[in-house]
Amino acid sequence: MNAAPRADADPGLESLLAFWAMAGVDACYDDAPVDRTLRPTPILRARTAPASIARSQAAVQATSSADVDRDALGKARELAAAAETIEALAAAVAAFDGCPLKAAGARQAVFARGASDAPVLLIGEAPGADEDIQGLPFVGRAGKLLDRMLDAAGLTGRVFITNTVFWRPPGNRTPTTAEQQVCAPFLERAIELVNPRLLLLVGGASAKSMLGVGDGILSLRGRWFDWRSHNSDHVLPALPTLHPAFLLRQPGAKKKAWDDLLTLTERLDRPGGAT
Ligand code: URA
Repeated sequence: MNAAPRADADPGLESLLAFWAMAGVDACYDDAPVDRTLRPTPILRARTAPASIARSQAAVQATSSADVDRDALGKARELAAAAETIEALAAAVAAFDGCPLKAAGARQAVFARGASDAPVLLIGEAPGADEDIQGLPFVGRAGKLLDRMLDAAGLTGRVFITNTVFWRPPGNRTPTTAEQQVCAPFLERAIELVNPRLLLLVGGASAKSMLGVGDGILSLRGRWFDWRSHNSDHVLPALPTLHPAFLLRQPGAKKKAWDDLLTLTERLDRPGGAT
Protein backbone atom coordinates (compact mmCIF):
# COMPACT_ATOMS: atom_id res chain seq x y z
CA MET A 1 0.00 0.00 0.00
CA ASN A 2 3.01 2.33 0.20
CA ALA A 3 3.69 2.24 -3.54
CA ALA A 4 3.06 5.51 -5.37
CA PRO A 5 -0.05 5.38 -7.58
CA ARG A 6 0.72 4.88 -11.28
CA ALA A 7 0.04 7.85 -13.54
CA ASP A 8 -2.63 5.85 -15.40
CA ALA A 9 -4.20 4.51 -12.20
CA ASP A 10 -7.98 4.38 -12.01
CA PRO A 11 -9.08 7.47 -10.00
CA GLY A 12 -11.84 5.40 -8.39
CA LEU A 13 -9.28 2.87 -7.20
CA GLU A 14 -6.98 5.65 -5.98
CA SER A 15 -9.76 7.21 -3.95
CA LEU A 16 -10.71 3.79 -2.51
CA LEU A 17 -7.07 3.24 -1.44
CA ALA A 18 -6.95 6.72 0.10
CA PHE A 19 -10.19 5.97 1.97
CA TRP A 20 -8.74 2.72 3.33
CA ALA A 21 -5.50 4.46 4.34
CA MET A 22 -7.49 7.13 6.23
CA ALA A 23 -9.43 4.35 7.94
CA GLY A 24 -6.13 2.86 9.13
CA VAL A 25 -5.90 0.02 6.60
CA ASP A 26 -2.32 0.67 5.56
CA ALA A 27 -0.64 -2.71 5.66
CA CYS A 28 -0.75 -5.71 3.36
CA TYR A 29 -1.00 -9.18 4.88
CA ASP A 30 -0.24 -11.11 1.73
CA ASP A 31 3.09 -11.54 0.01
CA ALA A 32 1.68 -10.45 -3.34
CA PRO A 33 -1.03 -7.85 -4.08
CA VAL A 34 -4.46 -9.24 -4.94
CA ASP A 35 -6.34 -7.45 -7.73
CA ARG A 36 -9.84 -7.64 -6.31
CA THR A 37 -11.25 -5.75 -9.29
CA LEU A 38 -10.81 -8.91 -11.41
CA ARG A 39 -13.23 -11.12 -9.51
CA PRO A 40 -16.32 -10.39 -7.46
CA THR A 41 -15.69 -10.68 -3.72
CA PRO A 42 -18.47 -12.69 -2.06
CA ILE A 43 -19.90 -10.60 0.76
CA LEU A 44 -20.83 -12.25 4.09
CA ARG A 45 -19.89 -15.68 2.83
CA ALA A 46 -16.79 -16.76 4.73
CA ARG A 47 -17.47 -17.91 8.27
CA THR A 48 -13.84 -18.84 8.90
CA ALA A 49 -10.86 -16.44 8.80
CA PRO A 50 -9.81 -15.53 5.25
CA ALA A 51 -6.83 -17.56 4.06
CA SER A 52 -4.53 -14.51 4.03
CA ILE A 53 -5.29 -13.70 7.69
CA ALA A 54 -5.00 -17.36 8.69
CA ARG A 55 -1.61 -17.45 6.94
CA SER A 56 -0.38 -14.35 8.75
CA GLN A 57 -1.59 -15.73 12.11
CA ALA A 58 0.20 -18.99 11.36
CA ALA A 59 3.34 -17.02 10.52
CA VAL A 60 3.15 -15.18 13.85
CA GLN A 61 2.67 -18.42 15.77
CA ALA A 62 5.57 -19.98 13.92
CA THR A 63 7.81 -17.13 15.09
CA SER A 64 7.79 -18.17 18.74
CA SER A 65 10.71 -17.64 21.08
CA ALA A 66 12.03 -21.10 20.20
CA ASP A 67 12.32 -19.87 16.63
CA VAL A 68 14.40 -16.80 17.36
CA ASP A 69 17.12 -16.57 14.74
CA ARG A 70 20.29 -17.42 16.71
CA ASP A 71 22.59 -15.87 14.09
CA ALA A 72 20.60 -12.64 14.11
CA LEU A 73 20.61 -12.62 17.92
CA GLY A 74 24.39 -13.11 17.95
CA LYS A 75 24.82 -10.28 15.45
CA ALA A 76 22.55 -8.01 17.51
CA ARG A 77 24.63 -8.73 20.65
CA GLU A 78 27.86 -8.01 18.75
CA LEU A 79 26.60 -4.73 17.25
CA ALA A 80 25.05 -3.56 20.52
CA ALA A 81 28.18 -4.30 22.57
CA ALA A 82 30.32 -2.34 20.12
CA ALA A 83 28.22 0.82 20.49
CA GLU A 84 29.85 3.19 22.97
CA THR A 85 27.26 5.98 22.76
CA ILE A 86 23.51 6.24 22.28
CA GLU A 87 24.09 7.79 18.85
CA ALA A 88 26.28 4.83 17.85
CA LEU A 89 23.62 2.46 19.19
CA ALA A 90 20.91 4.21 17.13
CA ALA A 91 23.09 3.80 14.03
CA ALA A 92 23.69 0.11 14.87
CA VAL A 93 19.94 -0.48 15.18
CA ALA A 94 19.29 1.23 11.84
CA ALA A 95 21.94 -0.95 10.14
CA PHE A 96 20.70 -4.21 11.69
CA ASP A 97 18.87 -6.51 9.26
CA GLY A 98 18.10 -9.38 11.65
CA CYS A 99 14.65 -8.34 12.88
CA PRO A 100 11.90 -9.74 10.59
CA LEU A 101 9.84 -6.57 11.13
CA LYS A 102 12.36 -4.57 9.13
CA ALA A 103 11.39 -6.45 5.97
CA ALA A 104 7.68 -6.55 6.82
CA GLY A 105 6.81 -3.08 5.53
CA ALA A 106 8.33 -0.70 8.09
CA ARG A 107 9.57 2.57 6.58
CA GLN A 108 12.50 3.05 8.95
CA ALA A 109 13.94 2.15 12.36
CA VAL A 110 12.37 3.93 15.32
CA PHE A 111 14.88 3.86 18.16
CA ALA A 112 14.49 6.40 20.93
CA ARG A 113 13.96 9.98 22.04
CA GLY A 114 14.70 11.89 25.23
CA ALA A 115 17.63 12.69 27.47
CA SER A 116 20.42 10.11 27.13
CA ASP A 117 21.32 10.58 30.83
CA ALA A 118 17.71 10.38 32.05
CA PRO A 119 17.00 8.80 35.45
CA VAL A 120 13.92 7.02 33.99
CA LEU A 121 13.96 4.75 30.94
CA LEU A 122 10.48 4.18 29.51
CA ILE A 123 9.83 1.11 27.33
CA GLY A 124 6.69 0.93 25.19
CA GLU A 125 5.49 -1.87 22.94
CA ALA A 126 6.33 -1.01 19.32
CA PRO A 127 6.24 1.93 16.92
CA GLY A 128 2.89 2.67 15.27
CA ALA A 129 2.02 4.46 12.03
CA ASP A 130 3.03 7.98 13.14
CA GLU A 131 6.28 6.74 14.66
CA ASP A 132 7.05 4.81 11.45
CA ILE A 133 6.68 8.04 9.46
CA GLN A 134 8.58 10.31 11.86
CA GLY A 135 11.25 7.85 13.03
CA LEU A 136 10.67 8.66 16.72
CA PRO A 137 8.78 6.73 19.41
CA PHE A 138 5.49 7.89 20.92
CA VAL A 139 4.76 10.82 18.63
CA GLY A 140 1.15 9.93 17.69
CA ARG A 141 -2.05 10.44 19.73
CA ALA A 142 -0.96 8.02 22.44
CA GLY A 143 2.45 9.69 22.60
CA LYS A 144 0.89 13.13 23.00
CA LEU A 145 -1.17 11.85 25.95
CA LEU A 146 1.96 10.22 27.39
CA ASP A 147 3.89 13.52 27.11
CA ARG A 148 1.08 15.42 28.87
CA MET A 149 1.06 12.87 31.69
CA LEU A 150 4.86 12.91 32.06
CA ASP A 151 4.77 16.70 32.09
CA ALA A 152 2.06 16.80 34.77
CA ALA A 153 4.15 14.41 36.89
CA GLY A 154 7.22 16.68 36.57
CA LEU A 155 9.06 14.14 34.42
CA THR A 156 9.64 16.19 31.26
CA GLY A 157 13.33 15.98 30.38
CA ARG A 158 13.86 13.14 32.87
CA VAL A 159 12.78 10.24 30.66
CA PHE A 160 14.46 8.34 27.83
CA ILE A 161 11.77 6.74 25.64
CA THR A 162 12.10 3.60 23.55
CA ASN A 163 10.22 0.36 22.70
CA THR A 164 10.64 -3.42 22.87
CA VAL A 165 11.08 -3.51 19.06
CA PHE A 166 12.37 -0.83 16.68
CA TRP A 167 10.25 -1.38 13.58
CA ARG A 168 6.49 -1.02 13.18
CA PRO A 169 4.71 -4.40 13.18
CA PRO A 170 2.39 -4.70 10.14
CA GLY A 171 -1.11 -3.51 10.96
CA ASN A 172 0.06 -2.53 14.47
CA ARG A 173 -0.12 -6.10 15.69
CA THR A 174 1.63 -7.00 18.95
CA PRO A 175 5.30 -7.86 18.35
CA THR A 176 6.11 -11.56 18.70
CA THR A 177 8.42 -12.89 21.41
CA ALA A 178 11.02 -13.72 18.75
CA GLU A 179 10.92 -10.14 17.41
CA GLN A 180 11.31 -8.76 20.92
CA GLN A 181 14.16 -11.18 21.70
CA VAL A 182 16.18 -10.24 18.65
CA CYS A 183 15.85 -6.53 19.52
CA ALA A 184 16.60 -7.10 23.23
CA PRO A 185 20.42 -6.74 23.00
CA PHE A 186 19.96 -3.17 21.72
CA LEU A 187 17.48 -2.42 24.47
CA GLU A 188 19.81 -3.84 27.13
CA ARG A 189 22.69 -1.81 25.74
CA ALA A 190 20.50 1.32 25.83
CA ILE A 191 19.81 0.60 29.50
CA GLU A 192 23.57 0.23 30.13
CA LEU A 193 24.45 3.45 28.30
CA VAL A 194 21.66 5.63 29.72
CA ASN A 195 22.16 4.02 33.14
CA PRO A 196 18.72 5.02 34.51
CA ARG A 197 17.67 4.55 38.12
CA LEU A 198 14.21 3.24 37.24
CA LEU A 199 12.41 1.55 34.34
CA LEU A 200 8.81 2.38 33.40
CA LEU A 201 7.22 -0.46 31.40
CA VAL A 202 4.33 0.89 29.39
CA GLY A 203 1.66 -1.65 28.45
CA GLY A 204 1.31 -5.42 28.72
CA ALA A 205 3.60 -6.31 25.80
CA SER A 206 6.44 -4.33 27.37
CA ALA A 207 5.90 -5.60 30.91
CA LYS A 208 5.60 -9.24 29.83
CA SER A 209 8.68 -9.07 27.63
CA MET A 210 10.90 -7.21 30.10
CA LEU A 211 9.86 -9.20 33.16
CA GLY A 212 9.32 -12.59 31.48
CA VAL A 213 5.88 -12.99 33.07
CA GLY A 214 2.55 -14.00 31.60
CA ASP A 215 0.16 -12.00 33.82
CA GLY A 216 -2.07 -9.27 32.39
CA ILE A 217 -1.08 -5.62 32.75
CA LEU A 218 -4.04 -4.87 35.04
CA SER A 219 -2.59 -7.20 37.65
CA LEU A 220 1.06 -6.17 37.08
CA ARG A 221 0.63 -2.37 37.03
CA GLY A 222 1.56 -0.20 39.96
CA ARG A 223 3.87 -2.80 41.58
CA TRP A 224 7.65 -2.80 41.60
CA PHE A 225 9.53 -5.70 40.00
CA ASP A 226 13.22 -6.41 39.48
CA TRP A 227 14.26 -6.26 35.85
CA ARG A 228 17.37 -8.40 35.16
CA SER A 229 19.64 -8.28 32.11
CA HIS A 230 20.00 -11.59 30.22
CA ASN A 231 23.10 -12.55 32.25
CA SER A 232 21.62 -11.07 35.46
CA ASP A 233 24.59 -8.75 36.01
CA HIS A 234 22.35 -5.70 35.84
CA VAL A 235 19.23 -5.37 38.03
CA LEU A 236 16.90 -2.36 38.13
CA PRO A 237 13.55 -1.53 39.75
CA ALA A 238 10.84 -1.66 37.06
CA LEU A 239 7.26 -0.38 37.28
CA PRO A 240 4.62 -1.64 34.81
CA THR A 241 1.83 0.80 33.94
CA LEU A 242 -1.06 1.11 31.50
CA HIS A 243 -0.44 2.01 27.87
CA PRO A 244 -1.65 5.49 26.80
CA ALA A 245 -3.40 3.92 23.77
CA PHE A 246 -5.47 1.90 26.26
CA LEU A 247 -6.18 5.11 28.21
CA LEU A 248 -7.47 6.77 25.04
CA ARG A 249 -9.95 3.91 24.68
CA GLN A 250 -10.72 3.66 28.41
CA PRO A 251 -10.40 7.17 29.89
CA GLY A 252 -11.77 5.85 33.18
CA ALA A 253 -8.45 4.02 33.69
CA LYS A 254 -6.41 7.26 33.67
CA LYS A 255 -6.49 7.52 37.45
CA LYS A 256 -4.69 4.16 37.74
CA ALA A 257 -1.96 5.34 35.33
CA TRP A 258 -1.66 8.61 37.23
CA ASP A 259 -1.29 6.72 40.51
CA ASP A 260 1.51 4.69 38.84
CA LEU A 261 3.34 7.87 37.79
CA LEU A 262 3.10 9.16 41.37
CA THR A 263 4.50 5.84 42.60
CA LEU A 264 7.40 6.33 40.15
CA THR A 265 8.13 9.97 41.10
CA GLU A 266 7.87 9.18 44.79
CA ARG A 267 10.66 6.60 44.44
CA LEU A 268 12.68 8.77 42.06
CA ASP A 269 12.64 11.80 44.33
CA ARG A 270 12.92 9.88 47.59
CA PRO A 271 15.91 11.17 49.59
CA GLY A 272 18.69 8.60 49.34
CA GLY A 273 17.93 7.64 45.73
CA ALA A 274 15.75 5.20 43.88
CA THR A 275 16.90 1.90 45.31
N1 URA B 1 2.89 2.74 21.16
C1 URA B 1 4.05 2.24 21.64
O1 URA B 1 4.04 1.30 22.42
N2 URA B 1 5.19 2.80 21.24
C2 URA B 1 5.24 3.84 20.41
O2 URA B 1 6.33 4.30 20.09
C3 URA B 1 4.02 4.35 19.92
C4 URA B 1 2.86 3.79 20.31
